[in-house]
Amino acid sequence: QIVEITDALADSGLHILENTLPIELVALWRARALALQREGSLKPAGVGRAAQREIASHVRSDAIAWLDAESEDADDLSALGFVEALRCALNERLYLGVNHAECHFALYPPGGHYTKHLDRHRDTDARVISFVLYLNETWQPKWGGQLKIYDNKDNLLRVVEPCGGTLVLFRSEQFPHEVVASAQDRVSLTGWLRRRT
Ligand code: OGA
Ligand code: MN
Repeated sequence: QIVEITDALADSGLHILENTLPIELVALWRARALALQREGSLKPAGVGRAAQREIASHVRSDAIAWLDAESEDADDLSALGFVEALRCALNERLYLGVNHAECHFALYPPGGHYTKHLDRHRDTDARVISFVLYLNETWQPKWGGQLKIYDNKDNLLRVVEPCGGTLVLFRSEQFPHEVVASAQDRVSLTGWLRRRT
């Protein structure tokens, strides 16, 4: 899978894989994200950077919890381990210079969405690769919640159903994307491979 991912990222800059990980692992991380929600540890996500940062639920309405290497939760650590393995493998093969990663669990409640955006903030090129691993047990197209990915001329390239085990990777500066309003709780592990700037 890593060879497939690196070829695609080198070529088109975008890749989508289904059933990337064992469903047991996806289930563990889903359970962890839902436990964080129950204990009130998922917080409304912000938009923008530093002084411009704000909660803007008309732009995005997911709730997130950043993963922290200091966590004492085994599932947090296994998720971080997966992200770190991905980072190292891609860095080694694509010479991306991505020396660290950041990731969060995200939950879009019913009605949740994220309007079209680029993952790279205007004033920094720290984010090189974006990835999303969906953690939903099942998904039906009628529930919405699709990820729509566009090219830089606004042509729709891909529509991704957020099925558990599907992994989306793309170059952060290249692909505007949006999350269509979801009728159900929609859970993911989302992150960025970063260059220190
Ligand atoms: C993001 C994002 C897409 C998704 O968090 O920046 O675009 O499908 N997420 O959850
Ligand atoms: Mn995004």
